Amino acid sequence: MLLKPKDYKLLQEEIKRLKREKNAVILAHYYQRPEIQEIADFVGDSLDLARKATEVSADIILFCGVHFMGETAKILNPDKRVLLPEPKAGCAMADMATKEAVLKLKDMYPNAWVVSYVNTTAEVKTISDVCCTSANAVKIVEKVPTDEIIFVPDKGLAYHLSKKVRGKKIIPFEGFCPDHYLFTADMLQRLKEKYPDAPVGVHPETPPEIQDRADFVGSTSQLLRWATSTELKADRVIIITEIGLQYPLQKRNPYRGYIFPTPDEGVGYLFCSQMKIITLEKVYESLKEEKNEVDLPEEVIEKANLSIKRMLDWS
Ligand code: 13P
Ligand code: SF4
Repeated sequence: MLLKPKDYKLLQEEIKRLKREKNAVILAHYYQRPEIQEIADFVGDSLDLARKATEVSADIILFCGVHFMGETAKILNPDKRVLLPEPKAGCAMADMATKEAVLKLKDMYPNAWVVSYVNTTAEVKTISDVCCTSANAVKIVEKVPTDEIIFVPDKGLAYHLSKKVRGKKIIPFEGFCPDHYLFTADMLQRLKEKYPDAPVGVHPETPPEIQDRADFVGSTSQLLRWATSTELKADRVIIITEIGLQYPLQKRNPYRGYIFPTPDEGVGYLFCSQMKIITLEKVYESLKEEKNEVDLPEEVIEKANLSIKRMLDWS
């Protein structure tokens, strides 16, 4: 059911009331719908959110993001209740890397450390040496003591690392984000021809041919900083990542234009359907009924915690 704007505001007020009543906090990723970002206590990229999850004093964390993000919050807060508005919201890239497939790679490269992008299941984190996000991947990989590194699961981010980090052999897992990988060099060319004055910022989850043609490659929070900076001399910028970032960009610097892939621009949307199946109604229901709690075995929490904690200590 789609809500009218008036109902929307009422629902937002009701969610805020429930938050106070239940001593809950709402964390939301930048790819969430604007009406959800509006009522969140904290909005960020996956690194910001993992950090924030360690500082929370509320009894309930309502996590508006995909499944692995809720799991990460639970691993960092085993004694708190972590709720997901929509437990089916998964990350297709995270699901590509099974524990068995990663163990096979470990057998092939016994001396290599496993660095896992935070976009992995809790199970995969239990067999990882350290985690990273796209915001701190370069820093983390530079600190790894081995020369060989198995990087799981994103081959886009692995490509970015192989260009940025010297003296390490990156062995990529063959995973990718199906949404970011839909964007092609041809599409980028069309946007560049339409907006020749606009610099291009892209997420490292995009394919190598897109990264190679960009002026800036960075995580969602890095894109946000770069594209809204007053030091960037441009009236408009082309941003190749999920459309959800448009709302925080506009909010942070409304004096610049942000061009995203959309059918209006002659290319398709870059849109994560999983992030968008979370709606305000689901946020309300999950908080009201305290349902869809993240539940992980104690042993998984303990082991996965080591690789996440190491990432936080190193970044
Ligand atoms: P960030 O680490 O930039 O938040 O990205 C997470 C993600 O899933 C992007 O698709
Ligand atoms: Fe996963 Fe891609 Fe969605 Fe990010 S945009 S959550 S990597 S499917």
